[in-house]
Amino acid sequence: MAILKIARMGHPVLLRRADPVPDPTAPDISRLIADMVETMEDAGGAGLAAPQVHVPLRLFVFRVPAHRASGEADDVPMGVTTLINPVVEPLGDETAMSWEGCLSIPGMRAAIRRPARVRYTGLDQDGQPVAREVGGFHARVVQHEYDHLDGILYPMRMTDFSLFGFNEELDRVAQAHALARAAEKAA
Ligand code: NI
Repeated sequence: MAILKIARMGHPVLLRRADPVPDPTAPDISRLIADMVETMEDAGGAGLAAPQVHVPLRLFVFRVPAHRASGEADDVPMGVTTLINPVVEPLGDETAMSWEGCLSIPGMRAAIRRPARVRYTGLDQDGQPVAREVGGFHARVVQHEYDHLDGILYPMRMTDFSLFGFNEELDRVAQAHALARAAEKAA
């Protein structure tokens, strides 16, 4: 296994439409998936798409960490999952606004509006079909990674540019607000 170099925003590999994986169980694909999982865990990310490691193929890995899952039936914590040649479709008209970061845009995050629930299908690392209907963080991370396969980065989805910033600054503001709320309660 190996830790792969992650492409950063501005690299053209992040802007092209990725190609279908011809043989999901081929040894080079299994090796790529193992390396992507190791790279995602090393970087502390919740998802990583093949174009982010300079491989323009339609596959990504992701996980639903316990501290991000809402705990609703369709958004429970989930270990590392692989999705090959996926199709993602919105379920219903409801949308949700939430913060997203990206390993290709280090140190920043933005609030992005997306469909609240999706249905997705694809193949896992053993070539077995996967089909799920999900919401919450699970739906968000899958949509974010799926966008990477079509050359879309989260800034292209932004509707309110005031909700975009460096993590250090946004964390500082969030801390200040939390302190102010605690002081109000104590008063
Ligand atoms: Ni990303």
